[in-house]
Amino acid sequence: MARGDTMVGLDVGSTKVAVIVGSLGSDGQLQIIGFGSAPSAGIRRGSVIDIENTVRSIEEAIEKAEQMSGRSIDGGYVGITATSVASINNRGVVAVADPEQEITRDDVDRVLQAARVIALPHDRRVVHVIPRQFIVDGNDSILDPVGMIGARLEVETQIVTITNASVQNLLKCCERAGFRVQELVLNSLASGEAVLFPAEKELGVVLVDIGGGATDIAVFDQGSLWYSAVLPVGGDYITSDLAVGLRTPLNQAEELKKRMGCALPALTPDNEIVEVPSVGGQKAQQASKKMIASIIQPRAQEILGLVKNQLEKSRYQGLLPGGIVLTGGTALTEGMVELAAEEMGQPVRLGFPEAVGGLADVIHSPVFATGIGLLAYAAKRHTTEMEKTEGLAWKDSLDKLKKWFKDLF
Ligand SMILES: Nc1ncnc2c1ncn2[C@@H]1O[C@H](COP(=O)(O)OP(=O)(O)OP(=O)(O)O)[C@@H](O)[C@H]1O
Ligand SMILES: [Mg+2]
Repeated sequence: MARGDTMVGLDVGSTKVAVIVGSLGSDGQLQIIGFGSAPSAGIRRGSVIDIENTVRSIEEAIEKAEQMSGRSIDGGYVGITATSVASINNRGVVAVADPEQEITRDDVDRVLQAARVIALPHDRRVVHVIPRQFIVDGNDSILDPVGMIGARLEVETQIVTITNASVQNLLKCCERAGFRVQELVLNSLASGEAVLFPAEKELGVVLVDIGGGATDIAVFDQGSLWYSAVLPVGGDYITSDLAVGLRTPLNQAEELKKRMGCALPALTPDNEIVEVPSVGGQKAQQASKKMIASIIQPRAQEILGLVKNQLEKSRYQGLLPGGIVLTGGTALTEGMVELAAEEMGQPVRLGFPEAVGGLADVIHSPVFATGIGLLAYAAKRHTTEMEKTEGLAWKDSLDKLKKWFKDLF
């Protein structure tokens, strides 16, 4: 892939399917050149429950993205999430191959391969092997050991695994929609690329993406992913609480939640009243914004409480100076950031997808954090590949130069 070539990100969410099209500008900056979004009908809690409907949603989103970008879309990077996501730490160790002990890209590939070897239950597969740090002859905290001198190369990794069924169903939907999967990327890893600043990842930060059916948690520290988990909760629960509490249809509850919803009753005025349509054509009733907020608050607290428990289990709770970044559609609920700060006892900010150009302002929303993040991930991958190729070409010239000197003398 060269500069200017098209990159595509596909986020198959519980609420919407989003296809984002981008390209790398000559300055290396990611430009969004089109997008398409379609309501998601076959996904629950992040996983495929209905193939036909999911395929239809993907096709619709692709068609819209093709129309807007004027490019034909046949594949790209696909986000994956499931409550079966698990993360394990592992180590790999190899002897450096070069007799002069200069570490090459090849040694790094070998040590990562060694770290990948873990005993997995037969129904699981590896999605990512993420290096946290390399260790050369006992010296740790090395991010890129290529070119260093040493005899023993070790790596500490975070291995993200998922059940085969979750992967297979998603792959099947993509294939049926005519979308070739270039790479599967963990949703929270993608969202992190879009909404987190490198300094936050370096310092230590928790990313919480609260969508419609799932909440993705990721801990980043020293620049890379250290922990990830997915909870089967999201904004859909808030919508159904409102539908029951206000005796209104789900679609009305959803609309009311987005327009008037607030997670902290204390932030709402006493006298703001709205009309709420009733079920079965009965007379509309009235509800105050405060009452709506008092229905939302306990569910929002429950979701945040589950996130807190999960972080306590991961032993990262409270250890990360970067605090918490909330993203995903539900993070847009008024008062959610304030409530999260209260519940978690840590600084919280709302994460918008940043550092992209083109049409990015049109989809500048936490809803598109994963979709845009997939492109940012693809762009980063592309840049690393280019560096590798350039590095190899440079090494090739150096080897030729060495040989020329040897032949000369
Ligand atoms: N302005 C808003 N205020 C409150 N909630 C909102 C707002 N906008 C969207 N939402 C809620 O966000 C949720 C959808 O978020 P998002 O698009 O991030 O989910 P998704 O990626 O499709 O699903 P998931 O990640 O759970 O699989 C829905 O529950 C929706 O009601
Ligand atoms: Mg999502």
